[in-house]
Amino acid sequence: MIGRLNHVAIAVRDLAAATALYRDTLGARVSQPLPQPEHGVTVVFVELPNTKIELLEPLGADSPVAKFLERNPDGGTHHICYEVDDILAARDRLKAQGARVLGSGEPRIGAHGKPVLFLHPKDFLGTLVELEQA
Ligand code: CO
Repeated sequence: MIGRLNHVAIAVRDLAAATALYRDTLGARVSQPLPQPEHGVTVVFVELPNTKIELLEPLGADSPVAKFLERNPDGGTHHICYEVDDILAARDRLKAQGARVLGSGEPRIGAHGKPVLFLHPKDFLGTLVELEQA
């Protein structure tokens, strides 16, 4: 059911420092910072040949990334995103198998303008999973 790895998201305290690390130390192509107030993050996209890394810095008072950084002060992998051909069919199949979909269970428009859902990390090996309509 799942397809391509769309991105891996890393929560960071200092987006400028994280961007410099990927750009200057690792030699990757990075985007300008993109504030996404509706998701409580500012994002820098790191473009790799086969996928993307998203560097997430908390934005606003009740950012989900701020809570993550309280538990993980050095930052860390926040979620991984897989593409699916049909996000509603994927959701229904996963729910039928007992997986928990976060929030209302209805897809929201994600960072790339496409519908996304998040799956409970306790159901997926301790990793927050994002599904994105391909
Ligand atoms: Co994501």
